[in-house]
Amino acid sequence: MADMSPELQEKIDILDAKWAQAHAGGGPARVARQHAAGKLTARERVDLLLDPGSFLELDAFVVHQCRDFGMEEQTVLGDGVITGHGTIDGRPVYVFAQDFTVFGGSLSGAYARKICKVMDLAVRNGAPVVGLNDSGGARIQEGVVSLGGYADIFLRNTLASGVVPQISAILGPCAGGAVYSPAITDFIAMVEGSSYMFVTGPDVIKTVTHEEVDKESLGGASAHSTKSGVCHFAVPDEPTCLALIRELLSFMPSNNVDDPPVRPTDDAWDRPTPELVGAVPGNPNKPYDIREIIRGVADDHHFLEVQEKYAQNIVIGFLRVEGRSVGVVANQPQHLAGCLDVNSSIKAARFVRFCDAFSIPILTLVDVPGFLPGTQQEWGGIIKHGAKLLFAFAEATVPKITLITRKAYGGAYDVMSSKHIRADVNLAYPTAEIAVMGADGAVNIIFRQELKDADDVEARRTELVDDYRQTFANPYKAAELGYIDRVIRPEHTRKEVAQALRMCRNKRDQNPPKKHGNIPL
Ligand code: HXC
Repeated sequence: MADMSPELQEKIDILDAKWAQAHAGGGPARVARQHAAGKLTARERVDLLLDPGSFLELDAFVVHQCRDFGMEEQTVLGDGVITGHGTIDGRPVYVFAQDFTVFGGSLSGAYARKICKVMDLAVRNGAPVVGLNDSGGARIQEGVVSLGGYADIFLRNTLASGVVPQISAILGPCAGGAVYSPAITDFIAMVEGSSYMFVTGPDVIKTVTHEEVDKESLGGASAHSTKSGVCHFAVPDEPTCLALIRELLSFMPSNNVDDPPVRPTDDAWDRPTPELVGAVPGNPNKPYDIREIIRGVADDHHFLEVQEKYAQNIVIGFLRVEGRSVGVVANQPQHLAGCLDVNSSIKAARFVRFCDAFSIPILTLVDVPGFLPGTQQEWGGIIKHGAKLLFAFAEATVPKITLITRKAYGGAYDVMSSKHIRADVNLAYPTAEIAVMGADGAVNIIFRQELKDADDVEARRTELVDDYRQTFANPYKAAELGYIDRVIRPEHTRKEVAQALRMCRNKRDQNPPKKHGNIPL
């Protein structure tokens, strides 16, 4: 390299000084406070998220334009948010990381423009956006400029939905209308003990409703991963959170016209699954863990469960078969006997739509006695919420493989990716029972009079129940009609699913042209 002239050296020194200033964020005292609170700085987070050395920062010298409340005297290069791009597993990703050490990470007009810039670039270049949130909300000194900035971001979140994957990590406060940006994104991860999300905080709640609640119980990771379902992953610490986002992205394509990446595996596609032979208990009322079957199918038995602790009567998540991503939706007989209810329908419907938007085939495992009965469910709108899941499955054009392991009763049979709503391959175990309802309920209705007149009611009931079970509690009626393509042996589960997925690899299907459907929200 040629010697630098003194003039150039001076200019380079100015540049270096600016970078040093930008890197200092809110200064050592505030950085120490951030660490003392058990939190990483925005830059440390970005470094852990992205491949080493891949981050290229944009707009590091942007400053706010506020001239009120003495703000003209207080400018920090970057203005409280770090934005740019890098790679995860070698694939491009756009990122913004809110810096709590600068004005509490609060959002100004300039800050919002930085975020919008990376979102626009992400959509234009077909790469995911990861947002690392840690902010006191709207920059109070900027007033409506800040509110407008939020709305600019919400608009972009909405327009990018279904075009590029959007992931949010909540790593500190996220309150007021600010929650709506993460809420529109595809997945939210929260760190236990140090993050919270709410529309109105404990003080406002106390004033308005006189209810007393602390912010952790109101909007911490535990509340949102078990009660509200807002959060998809609750993790113990920030490094785990950032590693999880890396893994989550590994299942997704970079955008809606790309395919998900293929991860080679040594796990044979036709690996027998003898462990699944006894997985479904002979007694139809005995629970079992549907995840055993999911893991049996998955490459290397690896399954990334989503919303693990919410609406546990349905299991959703990602696995791979022959190295290719698959989204799983499975009734869970261990919880509420696997019934569909309001929360599980919403949980699964959104997941189905995500998979469909991003070309991820869907494997549906069915063991469902029906919809959960009761006033709570009916008044809670199970009709419209159950219809969401039906709509989502029916609308999906990605490969759809369904395996009925045991019960497939009533409307729930139709909903759970049945042949009638365009599933591609419908499999069933010999233990499958496909009928309008369970044998006991059916006999009580269709033989009411006969049972009334019987000399020995219980003996007659047992006879009729056995008879009904013989006729309907099996997969063969449906197989005779072609609603089930193949009745398979449990030890062939992985091989059968792999072959079904292979068959659909080049599937092309589309819905009639329209502006958009009207999913029952
Ligand atoms: C400007 C803010 C700020 C804000 C925090 N700071 N929030 N500056 N606008 N919204 C600054 C503080 O002045 C302080 O500056 C530094 O950030 C750290 O804040 P602390 O209060 O010392 O930190 P902590 O005790 O950890 O409390 C964090 C907090 C609290 C819970 C977030 O700061 C807080 O309640 N902030 C206000 C939150 C709020 O009401 N935001 C507006 C919500 S309405 P110094 O210089 O001392 O370090 C909203 C609407 C969005 O967001 C609508 C979108 C449609």
